[in-house]
Amino acid sequence: MSRYPKINYIGNKNNLTDWIIDNLPYKKGKVVDLFCGGCSVSFALKENGYTVYSNDSLYSNYVLAKAIIENNNHKLTKEELEDIVIDKKIVNEIKQNIKFLENRIYFPEEVVELSELIEKSNHLNDEKKYMYLALIRRAMIRKIPYSRMNVPWNQIVKLRDEEYSYEKYKRRRAYHNLTFEQHIYENLENYNESIFDNKKMNKAFQLDSFQMLEKLDEKVDIIYIDPPYPSTMNKYGEFYGYFDKMFNKSIEYENLCSKDTFLEKFEKLISIASSKTKSIVISLNNKTKPSVSDIAELLKKYGKVTIKEKKHQYKVTNKENKNETIEVLIILKIKEEH
Ligand SMILES: C[S@@+](CC[C@H](N)C(=O)[O-])C[C@H]1O[C@@H](n2cnc3c(N)ncnc32)[C@H](O)[C@@H]1O
Repeated sequence: MSRYPKINYIGNKNNLTDWIIDNLPYKKGKVVDLFCGGCSVSFALKENGYTVYSNDSLYSNYVLAKAIIENNNHKLTKEELEDIVIDKKIVNEIKQNIKFLENRIYFPEEVVELSELIEKSNHLNDEKKYMYLALIRRAMIRKIPYSRMNVPWNQIVKLRDEEYSYEKYKRRRAYHNLTFEQHIYENLENYNESIFDNKKMNKAFQLDSFQMLEKLDEKVDIIYIDPPYPSTMNKYGEFYGYFDKMFNKSIEYENLCSKDTFLEKFEKLISIASSKTKSIVISLNNKTKPSVSDIAELLKKYGKVTIKEKKHQYKVTNKENKNETIEVLIILKIKEEH
């Protein structure tokens, strides 16, 4: 059983990690998870003894990678959190800075609580701070219906009304109305249990994928690529970006999702990646556009291409996706001259 904690990430590979790991072309070595998202693949790589470099353009994912991939032994206790004395003046300043969340994704009194928790995080040393921020992230997501920050405010208000929700959907969704802190304490043990040392120097990065590859100054064994594709649930900046904005940590990054330019940008990415690794493994599915064959065709000139398939049923946050998907892995072993 994996110790991967409760993260809640749209498009995650949680239920596919065993299959992904089984199909990797090297059984040990260094792997870059270039679009790590909720870190499910990074975590499985760590559990399987690889050295993992997790990268994502979002700070909310960087925080996760710091907390559960890079961090080998720093756990958090409820007692040490309760002992922290926060500075009311700083809380007030934070409150002003994150006012944009008020009546957008949370009620005003919740923004006050969030400001207090952010101030609390300032009192923790680096490793513990990222654990705490990862827990704040989880609490923030759990409090929003459909687990994403771009749900319109009027819909959030409606769905957080437990009577309305019960009448309409037969679900009270009471967890949306717990405090952030209640969520944090509920998840503390689960997150602590996910911390382990795989005796490797795993690292977290918050970079645009192109920059990450350019900065990589060593050859790795595998670069794993699970990018946002056009015509999927791909608005990650909108789903989670308020977290980055709260901490003033948003960065510029290449938008890969436009249908017209995807292949061109993707090829550029592969071309840079091919000089930094022995192999590239790409996740996609039979509904992805561009298609599996378009992408496989593009890859052929870089080396030997193998395709693996697996039937899979994705869970969409607010409904069961009835149409089964065929999950695909394209494995590219790079030719020597690249
Ligand atoms: C499909 S998700 C990855 C899901 C991940 N494999 C998991 O299991 O949770 C794609 C990720 O790419 C990130 N992303 C989008 N554009 C990026 C870019 N230009 N550079 C780096 N990351 C990017 C998004 O923030 C998102 O987390």
